[in-house]
Amino acid sequence: MNRISMDKEPDRLAEIIHFTAMHGKLLLDMAETPAALRGYLATEEGVALMLLSAHGPGAGAIVEIGSFLGKSTSWLALGSKSTGREKVTAIDWFRPLSFMAESSDPEDRAIYEQGSTYPVFLANLKRFKIEAQVTPIVAASAEAAETWNGDAIRAFYSLTATIFMRVF
Ligand SMILES: C[S@@+](CC[C@H](N)C(=O)[O-])C[C@H]1O[C@@H](n2cnc3c(N)ncnc32)[C@H](O)[C@@H]1O
Repeated sequence: MNRISMDKEPDRLAEIIHFTAMHGKLLLDMAETPAALRGYLATEEGVALMLLSAHGPGAGAIVEIGSFLGKSTSWLALGSKSTGREKVTAIDWFRPLSFMAESSDPEDRAIYEQGSTYPVFLANLKRFKIEAQVTPIVAASAEAAETWNGDAIRAFYSLTATIFMRVF
């Protein structure tokens, strides 16, 4: 039985979930979704990433640049885990964003003072039991690209300065 809590756009989300569940394609049993996490993507975008990760074409790694606190990473990893497919490589230098220093939200300020977004990122993976489905790389994207092992990539997602999604 799929159990998914709703966020601010319950009707649209319910519609998408109903569609996918009806087609037998969403094999998740989640009490909550990454929609609950702090981050930079809408629920529809997250669900789209999850479905691409679960059912997208080709074979090869799923790579993300700009993981921040793990919201998009979690959607991607829940998708590929649900169908037993490839892990997600999550690349970020995990430095706090500058707005966090002056944020009115104490959680932002705590992350800023900690000097890294990585502990919250890891806690969020744990929350969704997807630690084993994600390979984090703590590095600048250019550095990570230089050390890439040459394995095929089937899906690439990046939200740094611009949004970019490509399925190969
Ligand atoms: C807008 S946030 C990404 C939001 C995230 N995908 C989400 O789900 O909420 C952009 C992230 O990209 C990272 N970033 C920006 N440029 C980078 C670079 N050249 N190398 C590594 N990480 C970078 C920042 O540290 C930040 O965590």
